[in-house]
Amino acid sequence: MSEDSYTMRDLAQAVQAQMVLHGKDAAKILEGIREPVSNILNSDLSNIGVMREGNHIEESRYLYYDGEMSITFDHLPEGKDIPPHDHGIWEMLAIYSGQLHHTVYDREDDGSKEGYAKLKAIDDRVLQPGEMSMVAPPAEIHSFTALTDDTWSVTIVGGKYKLDRHYYDPANSSCRIANPKKQKVV
Ligand SMILES: [Fe+2]
Repeated sequence: MSEDSYTMRDLAQAVQAQMVLHGKDAAKILEGIREPVSNILNSDLSNIGVMREGNHIEESRYLYYDGEMSITFDHLPEGKDIPPHDHGIWEMLAIYSGQLHHTVYDREDDGSKEGYAKLKAIDDRVLQPGEMSMVAPPAEIHSFTALTDDTWSVTIVGGKYKLDRHYYDPANSSCRIANPKKQKVV
């Protein structure tokens, strides 16, 4: 199939097929969707999508949404540090253009002490166009900073975000619950 004829519906169907095959095993889902995601990254996304309200970012467009799974096209603001946060569901970022400093963390404490969280960075790298990162429970915390003004990602989320998400401050071993929209967390 040529890249031009690969559609968003093809990608959504490929993601759903992998979710049926692998359930919550996000590592296997990632391997199964690498090629379909690459096909979309190699297509022209500049004129498609529907505007959505992003949680941390200024420009975000829905490429696909079915009430649960979503595929969005996101402009990540250059130099803006998005603090470590969780989602409650797997989230995959694939870089369309630019460069993204991206860190994935494992939570080392058991979550029993309110306001306390000990994070350990387990993947810390600069993602280049065509590269992908899967953030999934139990290591579903990430932070990121775009390094260029043209950093765009294709982001796939396997279901609904949990309502009360955690934001973390690793330097102080602390965390707090915040709804990204209600709290106007940027
Ligand atoms: Fe996120």
